[in-house]
Amino acid sequence: MLRTNTCGELTIKDKNNKVTLCGWVQRSRDLGGMTFIDLRDRYGITQLVFNMDTNSALCEEARKLGREFVISVIGTVAERSNKNLKIPTGEIEIIADSFEILNESKLPPFTIEDDTDGGEEQRMKYRYLDLRRNVNKNNLELRHKMASATREYLNSVNFIEIETPFLIKSTPEGARDYVVPSRINPGEFYALPQSPQTFKQLLMVAGYDRYYQIVRCFRDEDLRADRQPEFTQIDCEMSFATQEGVLETFEGLVKHLFKKIKKIDIEKIPRMSYHDAMKYYGTDKPDIRFEMKFVELNDVTRGKGFKVFDEAAFVVGICAEGCGEYTRKQLDELTDFVRKPQIGASGLVYVKIGKDGSYKSSVDKFFAQEDLKKIAAKFNAKENDLILILAGQKDKTRKCLGELRLEMADRKGLKDNKKYCPLWVLDFPLFEWHEEMNRYYAKHHPFTSPKPEDISLLDHNPIVVKANAYDLVINGVEIGGGSIRIHNKQLQNKMFKVLGFTEKEAQEQFGFLMNAFEYGAPPHGGIAFGFDRWCALFGEGTSIRDYIAFPKNNAGRDVMIDSPSQISEEQLKELNLKIDLKK
Ligand code: AMO
Repeated sequence: MLRTNTCGELTIKDKNNKVTLCGWVQRSRDLGGMTFIDLRDRYGITQLVFNMDTNSALCEEARKLGREFVISVIGTVAERSNKNLKIPTGEIEIIADSFEILNESKLPPFTIEDDTDGGEEQRMKYRYLDLRRNVNKNNLELRHKMASATREYLNSVNFIEIETPFLIKSTPEGARDYVVPSRINPGEFYALPQSPQTFKQLLMVAGYDRYYQIVRCFRDEDLRADRQPEFTQIDCEMSFATQEGVLETFEGLVKHLFKKIKKIDIEKIPRMSYHDAMKYYGTDKPDIRFEMKFVELNDVTRGKGFKVFDEAAFVVGICAEGCGEYTRKQLDELTDFVRKPQIGASGLVYVKIGKDGSYKSSVDKFFAQEDLKKIAAKFNAKENDLILILAGQKDKTRKCLGELRLEMADRKGLKDNKKYCPLWVLDFPLFEWHEEMNRYYAKHHPFTSPKPEDISLLDHNPIVVKANAYDLVINGVEIGGGSIRIHNKQLQNKMFKVLGFTEKEAQEQFGFLMNAFEYGAPPHGGIAFGFDRWCALFGEGTSIRDYIAFPKNNAGRDVMIDSPSQISEEQLKELNLKIDLKK
């Protein structure tokens, strides 16, 4: 090796040792008689000292070193007089005997420091420089540790890692596919997998009864903080397991990762039905770090002459503890919040309970103190609490109140990102109705099995059929989702029929899977976890982008390599693609 040690490991125990270090010049300080250089590598920072009195020529040379030059230095470990106890190497420094410039560097476009002066765009363009910064290094190290711990657990319970192809035919996960033209099959395209769903099921037919893969998936959907066009799943499938068996197996993985990475012991993960999640939190991914459960109020709000409540199908509210002194301005802000187009409520009603136990509301004209007291009693509200009420169509109103609940949690500082509350959400509906398309869609995917007791409802009342499907939610983030699969050709056929596929279409798209089911498909089920999301959650980050080495920006672009980009006329011709490049 070109070095004897890294820049993060030398301590006072190494005093007087002769060492060679390699790294990047982080910073250089010239104090007249002495020049100090902070040398950085992946492991840390070590201070180098060049002394004008003892070696003026070397010191002169060292002064010329620019930021981010790569050097190798030979010297002796010495105790520092001015110790920095914040870093592991802060008690020592290296008295340099000689150094060699391994490579020069242009002045970087931003400072490679924890507090950088680089803007988002610049840092994405020079991602390789941004990755030198601690914050990114720590995130990628966390990601690596999580991948190792995942493999460690799954290997220990007999899962084997098997790779599945990337050039495939479309998998129906509900997003758009990225497609790749085939040169040798003119006019035909591969699709990049949205997940390895069908392949993992085929592996079960093949007898590999416990499969996993830490695998890249591709989905052409709008980007958000928790979505990237290419992202990674911990994809798993197992045979001869009931839903209970799958949940227990992967609860083991959750516990292992929490223990290993966060040093947290997770108790048994609580469970909630989809029905209750929607009823009490207005979302299928409730953040249960805090309460503020929904209370339905139709019975106590009807018939008081307030048109909005009287005409609404559904009236529901939350109680924000200790917010009874919210000002007019704060309440207006909340009203503006729920009226934002993304939220879409038409208005907000409040009831404040004063410290003296009196009630004040935005509907005082219609509701006497006695009526407001009845509303407050539904929440077990106390003095100095604030009740926030929305009214309207049921599903939409629940969704709006779910958003308001999260907003209130933010305002009250209840989203403690050091606290982790995992939750299994169970018993999802098998289908959802798509108004515009005028047809049913699979809520999870078309291979998810209905609950056996609901199979008879598939023909005439599919919307009430529940699925053997489950999600893992942690702190309001959907970390994973899976299901017990259909392994019977007739049932799978029926599923496709409800989804509006003709027999021919089903055969064309999924014939390979249906045919496989005729050769001894075992009962099976599985789950996939969003690995990037899990890393961001454990890293206490706000965007999965920060946990991916080379992510895409908000427009789905990689600004470093400038992709997507046009391709040459020759390439287009070869691929039999006709695109008018002038447009
Ligand atoms: P699903 O579509 O729910 O299930 O995906 C599983 C998990 O992947 C994560 N995820 C994403 N992460 C980042 N960016 C994205 N664009 C993105 N999309 C999804 C989420 C999600 O919970 N084949 C099934 C799993 C199964 O049934 O076994 C599937 O892919 O955390």
